[in-house]
Amino acid sequence: MKIGGLEVGRVGLGAWQAGGGAWHVDFSELKKAYEYALDNGINFIDTAEVYGNGRSEEFVGVLVRSRPHVVVATKVAGFHWGRMLKSAERSRRRLGRVDLLQLHWPPPFYVPICKVIRDMEKAVEAGLTAEIGVSNFDLGLMEKAKTCAKKYELVSDQVVYNALHRAAEPLLEAGKRLGFVVIAWSPLAKGAAVKEAVGRDRARALDPAVKRAQTPEGRRVVATIRRIAERRGASPAAVVLAWHAAKGTYPIPGIKNTTQAREAVEATRLTLTEGEVREIDEASAPFVAGSLWPGVMRVIPGFLQKLAFTLARV
Ligand SMILES: NC(=O)c1ccc[n+]([C@@H]2O[C@H](COP(=O)([O-])OP(=O)(O)OC[C@H]3O[C@@H](n4cnc5c(N)ncnc54)[C@H](OP(=O)(O)O)[C@@H]3O)[C@@H](O)[C@H]2O)c1
Repeated sequence: MKIGGLEVGRVGLGAWQAGGGAWHVDFSELKKAYEYALDNGINFIDTAEVYGNGRSEEFVGVLVRSRPHVVVATKVAGFHWGRMLKSAERSRRRLGRVDLLQLHWPPPFYVPICKVIRDMEKAVEAGLTAEIGVSNFDLGLMEKAKTCAKKYELVSDQVVYNALHRAAEPLLEAGKRLGFVVIAWSPLAKGAAVKEAVGRDRARALDPAVKRAQTPEGRRVVATIRRIAERRGASPAAVVLAWHAAKGTYPIPGIKNTTQAREAVEATRLTLTEGEVREIDEASAPFVAGSLWPGVMRVIPGFLQKLAFTLARV
């Protein structure tokens, strides 16, 4: 598939885990996992300046230096809304190259969206990225942002989307109409969509999808995914990622070990039948309603956002 002018496979990778802060990670195992995935058919990796305060970008930068085929995406937080280009420069220095620069979340309500999007366009003009996109923009904000972009297209919106959190569905239709790709973060619901119990990493503490997995409706979703996996002789993660492909989203699972890397690669070769997609759709129907997360960021001023992220060690 294509994200703007970037040719990518059906599944990418997310590298929040490589920040270390909010996840329990064995870094030597993590390195092997990314190397396996990037050398076996996966050609997209997403990171962000806030993951480990630059540590994830540095980690990814080393990996992609010898892998020119890999499309590199990162996200700038823009805590200082006038200084986004500086953030983009720092990210590019850590990564070596940036193919897709995304705004990590919408600005607070008092910062005009169009001003921020113009700054993103300036990053293309300055040669800091090939393509620009956003993250955590709901339908209304995305429609507005699309009208702000005058010189370059916004090619993607990275939002939470998984079988336990389907509130982004209106964006899928809009993406086809307005020409942008929905990149799905937490595509496995942080693991909760594919297994009965998940670890106690801090990253999971506030995720509503992880809590929903423990409700009767949530357990039905997990059981449905596992039943299809057993029938197909596939891993539950591959089934979920293939479901994303059928829905038209671009999933970027965060992996921690080589087994998980293999299952992400496995997903690039698995196609679900219409009936299987319907089974998951029906089981996860209770989770279509709701709003994108974390919407609360729009009412928190930039300097407080920065303080919160520093204290939380994301
Ligand atoms: N734009 C944003 O605001 C935003 C927010 C969050 C994330 N993201 C991006 O999206 C990426 C993915 O999201 P995420 O890491 O939150 O959630 P995720 O991809 O749904 O889940 C990742 C976790 O699931 C478990 N897992 C991975 N592969 C598995 C497999 N094959 N089978 C079973 N469990 C597996 C691993 O944890 P265990 O091994 O501990 O079980 C892993 O840490 C991030 O790395 C980041 O790049 C973006």
